[in-house]
Amino acid sequence: MHKLIEILNADRNFGIGKRNGLLFSLPLDMAFFRKTTSGHVVVMGENTLLSFPGSKPLKNRTNVVLSADITHNYKNVVNVHSFDDLLNYIAYALEKEDVYVIGGASIYRQLLPYSDEVLLTKVDADGGAEVFFENLDKRDDFDLVNQGEPLMDGDIPIRFCTYKNLQRATVSQNNGETGAEHHLRLWPEPFASIRDGNKDIEMRLNEPKRQKLHVGDVIVFENTKTEETIKTKIIGLAPYDSFETLYAAFPKERLGYKEGEEANPSDMEKYYSKERIEEFGPLAIFIRKIA
Ligand SMILES: NC(=O)c1ccc[n+]([C@@H]2O[C@H](COP(=O)([O-])OP(=O)(O)OC[C@H]3O[C@@H](n4cnc5c(N)ncnc54)[C@H](OP(=O)(O)O)[C@@H]3O)[C@@H](O)[C@H]2O)c1
Repeated sequence: MHKLIEILNADRNFGIGKRNGLLFSLPLDMAFFRKTTSGHVVVMGENTLLSFPGSKPLKNRTNVVLSADITHNYKNVVNVHSFDDLLNYIAYALEKEDVYVIGGASIYRQLLPYSDEVLLTKVDADGGAEVFFENLDKRDDFDLVNQGEPLMDGDIPIRFCTYKNLQRATVSQNNGETGAEHHLRLWPEPFASIRDGNKDIEMRLNEPKRQKLHVGDVIVFENTKTEETIKTKIIGLAPYDSFETLYAAFPKERLGYKEGEEANPSDMEKYYSKERIEEFGPLAIFIRKIA
């Protein structure tokens, strides 16, 4: 069973940030964060994405970003626009892997009831915070299961701690069909790979007609040869810079390739001209089979 894990550092008042930035510069903690979250899904609020250098997503991780504004669709991240859609993406991701919640304050708070664990780096200092995390030491539904030795991170004393949620709420998939229905035709091979549960990322171009796709909508895939259909639900939408970036971000099976098959971004030129790829860039559509 995969876990939903919140990861953060907090000062002695459970303060976590000020002026949309961190309170301290902690190289040791940063290295721990990078090592722990690399290769996994990280979910965050829009402010946290904007607080990163150049507002760029974190490398080697699937970045999922929640913003209330549906016109905010960042490149190289999975964009969701409601808390329910975020929970739905998390439920989908947890079927395959651990998911890390990386902030900020509002996302930590909303996802805390669903989290299995909190990896909290306690900083023994006062950072003059403006935003705060829950004081887990005052809650009986969280148990301090591991407390590392005190360490110095530069000249700042820290301690790596793990809390376990004793009353975790279940994150469940919402397979209801509430959104619009779209029809897309697929060649037999990728069709079979969705049907067999291997491919869960459909790649198209991010052209104007795709603006009609929204998280929660239904896509009915039609096999070009047999007229067979598969019903899926859109779990997330991610515009990418290039097919190279997209191919590098996911195991090839999720894109529809078989074991032993070579996955090459230029394969997409079978479907789209170089010029159109250049003009619009790819759109990764995360889908879940519902019938
Ligand atoms: N110490 C640490 O380890 C750590 C880690 C990460 C971040 N931080 C700090 O945390 C602070 C940022 O926290 P924050 O709470 O301001 O920002 P945040 O959680 O990163 O982002 C808030 C954004 O998420 C959107 N959002 C939140 N809940 C939503 C919902 N239910 N539906 C739709 N959209 C939703 C909001 O949209 P609207 O505004 O449009 O409603 C808002 O734009 C910064 O200071 C950062 O440095 C600290």
